[in-house]
Amino acid sequence: MNIRDAVLDDLPVVTSIYNDAVQHTTAIWNDRLVDVANRTQWLAERQKQGYPVLVSVDEAGEVTGYASFGDWRAFDGYRHTVEHSVYVHAGQRGKRIGEALMLALIERARGIGKHVMVAAIESGNKGSIRLHEKLGFSHVGQMPQVGMKFGEWLDLTFLQLILDDRAKPGDA
Ligand SMILES: CC(C)(COP(=O)(O)OP(=O)(O)OC[C@H]1O[C@@H](n2cnc3c(N)ncnc32)[C@H](O)[C@@H]1OP(=O)(O)O)[C@@H](O)C(=O)NCCC(=O)NCCS
Repeated sequence: MNIRDAVLDDLPVVTSIYNDAVQHTTAIWNDRLVDVANRTQWLAERQKQGYPVLVSVDEAGEVTGYASFGDWRAFDGYRHTVEHSVYVHAGQRGKRIGEALMLALIERARGIGKHVMVAAIESGNKGSIRLHEKLGFSHVGQMPQVGMKFGEWLDLTFLQLILDDRAKPGDA
């Protein structure tokens, strides 16, 4: 397995992984499917911000998953904190691909001086919660019934990872 930065040719598979999660999971709280043009714009925005979009690729060169992060909240004071997402193709789960993507993503966040990564996970998504616990994320909160999908209220569990031991941000 190889983890690398996404390129335009990866986006058809990234789009189908995203849409599968929209249709079949509570991992994304969206109901609308996206097209490749939508993901192309998303990739360009992430690149403009200097943020990574990583893909995992198997021996045959097929994309098996992706991970990325963006700003957690759009206020200046949150600029050292990012919120990420990670998705593995439905037929490829349980092979440590999600873990490999996350390990690479964490290093990229450290590399650009981010201090905290936030994971906002649907509380019933035990696989994702276990993955984040394994990576050292701590539970920091839960918000009951803040979302809905498939006719049910959804609870949101927050976990976070502090990426470095800086006592102060170092920039004013
Ligand atoms: C959650 C997801 C990214 C995990 O990726 P994955 O490649 O399937 O998981 P990995 O094989 O890397 O698992 C790594 C660790 O995570 C935990 N884990 C992953 N899936 C799990 C599951 N279904 N049940 C319990 N633990 C699980 C385990 O601790 C595992 O370590 P182990 O192999 O030593 O037991 C993937 O299942 C996925 O894309 N799910 C749908 C979308 C989603 O929920 N994304 C996250 C949104 S917050």
